[in-house]
Amino acid sequence: MGTIQIQTSVPGPKSKELVQRRESAVPRGLSHTIPIYVTNAEGATLEDVDGNRYIDFAGGIGCLNVGHRAPGVVSAIRAQLDRFLHTSVQVTAYESYVRLAERLNAATPGKFPKKTLLMNTGAEAIENAVKIARTHTGRPGIIAFEDAFHGRTLMTLALTSKTHPYKAGFGPFPPEVYRIPYAYCYRCSYSLTYPSCDVHCARHLEDTFKRVVASEDVAAVVAEPVLGEGGFIAPPPEFFPTLIDICHKHGVLFIADEVQSGFGRTGALFACQRYGIEPDIIVTAKSLGGGLPLAAITGRAEIMDAPSPGGLGGTFAGNPLACEAGLAVFDAFEQSDLISQANKIGDYFQRRAREWQQRLPIIGDVRGLGAMQAIELVQSKETRQPAPEETKQVTQYCYEHGVITITAGSYGNVIRLLVPLVITREQMDEALDVLQAGLQMVCEKMGAVAQTMGS
Ligand SMILES: Cc1ncc(COP(=O)(O)O)c(C=O)c1O
Repeated sequence: MGTIQIQTSVPGPKSKELVQRRESAVPRGLSHTIPIYVTNAEGATLEDVDGNRYIDFAGGIGCLNVGHRAPGVVSAIRAQLDRFLHTSVQVTAYESYVRLAERLNAATPGKFPKKTLLMNTGAEAIENAVKIARTHTGRPGIIAFEDAFHGRTLMTLALTSKTHPYKAGFGPFPPEVYRIPYAYCYRCSYSLTYPSCDVHCARHLEDTFKRVVASEDVAAVVAEPVLGEGGFIAPPPEFFPTLIDICHKHGVLFIADEVQSGFGRTGALFACQRYGIEPDIIVTAKSLGGGLPLAAITGRAEIMDAPSPGGLGGTFAGNPLACEAGLAVFDAFEQSDLISQANKIGDYFQRRAREWQQRLPIIGDVRGLGAMQAIELVQSKETRQPAPEETKQVTQYCYEHGVITITAGSYGNVIRLLVPLVITREQMDEALDVLQAGLQMVCEKMGAVAQTMGS
């Protein structure tokens, strides 16, 4: 018997009732992709209030690389529960904060001296990386990318690219943010083709310093090594080295936002390692906490020390429970083969998805790094017109058949894989069979519509 069990049609009666209660109690601005209510989760599976069991390809939006309720994480949190819950590290500190900082300093790319500041969320960590970069350089400007996502606070929204639903109506945003194209080769902003383009998009930063903002007014370039919400886009190997060389030539810092790409997702602890790059500041969150809110800013010691005492902090930032969870996540990576597992998952997904791409007209692009994989759905392979409605239909089909998937991309036409790395091959097959059937179903519907239109 497989893992998936759909006992009732979904959402079941108990979830339906909760959906109604939520509608009166919670603002509609908080989206709710899949209308089920979870009671339990383990490894790569979720169970809902109606007794349905799902395979989870979303992993709490990439927070559960070590799996739901990873045993080491659960027992570390349990042990901390019996000691103390909170003191605020700015008032009275605890060893786990320092130990986690030491481990992050040692594990992140770059052999130079580093320091780490802990926060609760990815957005908060990016905000702090900006504060630190500005105090270190004495410059205001930040350059971000098209299709970037850095969070939902006002500064991180300024850095974020996608307008609806993230930014529309929430401005004005903080000034001094500039935007340049990313290496989105499938939809190149310059209509060039890799490799003959010679990563023009990275080289274009020189032009930006001439025509848009002077480099001496720019503190940092902030980039996701693999775009997350923007559609799981992994740039060609030369992109980041070229970009970072230009940054450093002008005294501009390079900040890597590894909130989604970090902690094993891409088949290395950090995606930066896959590119052989050493950012000046690296921001991690999501899977660092193994399910608890935890984020970190790790950077060159002299940069991290730029803000004066009291300039950085937050009441709950680096909470003791979260620190213990983070340390247990590190242990899990040291004690098991999660990294090679990520590569195996990625290779397997690629193999299956490339077969689909051969057969199914809807799959325009298959891409990713390690287990950070995605498919981009299009109306036609020739025009590459995005297929957001069909993408929704596929994710709906998956959910109704027991697989939780989430979308991405500025056009909402990407299905992304953020499955816990502890998924078994059987579960992976079971879930991919469902995804395949969903894609086939949508293609058949499209074919039927094309035939009707043609007749
Ligand atoms: C690359 C990236 N940066 C920052 C964030 C914001 O993190 P959080 O939602 O924890 O604030 C996200 C969230 O999805 C992200 O993917």
